[in-house]
Amino acid sequence: MNFSTVALIISLAASANGFAAPQSSTRRGSGLNMSLEKYGDELRATAAQLVRPGYGLLACDESTGTVGTRLESIGLENTEENRAEWRELLFTTEGLGQFISGAILFDETLYQTANSGKQMIDIMAEQGIVPGIKVDTGLKPMAGAGPEETWCSGLDGLHDRCTAAYARGARFAKWRTAVRIDEAKGYPTNLAVKEAAWGLARYARICQECGLVPIVEPEVLIDGVHAQSVTAKVQENFVSSVYKYMEECGCMLEGTLLKPSMTVQTLQRTIPPAMPGVTFLSGGISEEDASIYLNEINKIDRLGPWALTFSFSRAMQSSCIKIWAGKPENKAAAQAQLLARAQANSEASKGEYKAGSQPSIEESLYVKDYSY
Ligand code: 13P
Repeated sequence: MNFSTVALIISLAASANGFAAPQSSTRRGSGLNMSLEKYGDELRATAAQLVRPGYGLLACDESTGTVGTRLESIGLENTEENRAEWRELLFTTEGLGQFISGAILFDETLYQTANSGKQMIDIMAEQGIVPGIKVDTGLKPMAGAGPEETWCSGLDGLHDRCTAAYARGARFAKWRTAVRIDEAKGYPTNLAVKEAAWGLARYARICQECGLVPIVEPEVLIDGVHAQSVTAKVQENFVSSVYKYMEECGCMLEGTLLKPSMTVQTLQRTIPPAMPGVTFLSGGISEEDASIYLNEINKIDRLGPWALTFSFSRAMQSSCIKIWAGKPENKAAAQAQLLARAQANSEASKGEYKAGSQPSIEESLYVKDYSY
């Protein structure tokens, strides 16, 4: 582990960048602002509950194709039954609710009956884990931008899907969009960043209308060979654009969360203080590195009041699924592994994790062009 690298990643900017406090969300001629009044207190409370001290999120919203790849890697077929068995294993891990406040689900899981006959969301409720729902419908090639650049789809029908998810028990949502850096090709183009930021803001506002706390995920992919300073610059521009457009869309920042890559140099410059919590993605770094980075980040003095916690998928599930290997006799060991990483990340969210004190698989989880 190169601690100077970590130190560079986590060095916080010395000065805040004068973010104007968001105006009232009930101004600006939107015909859809009644629900913000209806759900305002609940949105605030949900966001605060998700990032309360020592808690973070389990991201298990992989699409059917992506979770299938994981199941196939341990020799299981990608069937609904196997997907349900895997996710039931996660949610029935005893004690998980001591560290995990919410889980981000793919549509199928939100409405799924586990093989035990219980509803998945009821199993989660027994642990005090709030269900969330991934609502973007994936990245698509973007006309007019670079050939490898994308835009994030999913706004069509979003209000109806969010309303249905809320009725089913979901209380938060996630929308992941990503920009790619390639200095030789001039990526990300302004067009790609603008579209990504605008889409996130529109999504966030629609979620809030339906009572769901939007997790806003502007990912800067770690693919490429550019310097960290380049990533920091791109992230600063991207995250600033997101908040500019969220203000334009009339989002209530207290009822939102941010899920960026783990490069916090720019956070202090770009995140308004009203936004309650950052729930980092792991992005393909190893389980142990993800916990160590989060821990280091939480040891730094900073001006921002937001919680800095986790919303990991790969860095929480990878060794668990390998240990399980689809065999009933390995279930308890796999659950113990999941609990161990959840505890490590909970401690890291308080700056109290002791490196190496929890087991992990020490290998990079990076996958080129990874998609959900
Ligand atoms: P990773 O932790 O695997 O990057 O996933 C985070 C994510 O965006 C899933 O919601």
